[in-house]
Amino acid sequence: MNLRFQTKRLLLRPFQDSDLELFLAYRNDPEVARYQGWSVPYPRQAALDFIAEMKTAQIQPGNWLQLALELQANGETIGDVAIHQMKSDPRQAYLGYSLARAYWGQGYASEAIRAVLDLLFAELNLHRVVAECDVENEASWRLLERLGFRREAHLHENIFFKGAYGSEYHYAMLGRDWKPND
Ligand SMILES: CC(C)(COP(=O)(O)OP(=O)(O)OC[C@H]1O[C@@H](n2cnc3c(N)ncnc32)[C@H](O)[C@@H]1OP(=O)(O)O)[C@@H](O)C(=O)NCCC(=O)NCCS
Repeated sequence: MNLRFQTKRLLLRPFQDSDLELFLAYRNDPEVARYQGWSVPYPRQAALDFIAEMKTAQIQPGNWLQLALELQANGETIGDVAIHQMKSDPRQAYLGYSLARAYWGQGYASEAIRAVLDLLFAELNLHRVVAECDVENEASWRLLERLGFRREAHLHENIFFKGAYGSEYHYAMLGRDWKPND
């Protein structure tokens, strides 16, 4: 499957070896890591292993695929989007995303995720896409609401995370509710 997509300002593409330093830089930013599954310091070897795996990853039931977001204007890798097609039901997927802090507040995550939703709903005919986030991660849930995701649940102190119980919102979008890019 072709995993290179151009949007107005971005190129979504598989990770490549040259992404290493910029990827390590944003994974090692405590503000980017705060609500994510990894901790700082994020080891260089973990980044090498991640890129080696993601270079050839595909969208497949049970797999996580993360695509790099390259800014067309300067060729920099500014973040990534993650797609996990569920093994138990391949017409459903989880979504994840991270941007380097210098690129927050400029609409890049929305732009990238719109392209991913086009792929998942219009090309792959998925039924439902799900995203989960910490209730304190306002930038994340605002992003999901901007895109039209529906908040389906507020789970109270449901997850022991980085030393304390945290609460989560669960969001989802159905394929029939997706309004493709024009
Ligand atoms: C979650 C995250 C990707 C959101 O990034 P973001 O920059 O807020 O989201 P976008 O790229 O869509 O940008 C939207 C913002 O840019 C503004 N903006 C500027 N130009 C814009 C444009 N052309 N199009 C859309 N929005 C634009 C919007 O008004 C909005 O700002 P606001 O929230 O103050 O209203 C980012 O905070 C992040 O990487 N966090 C760390 C990792 C993380 O927690 N991931 C989620 C785990 S669940």
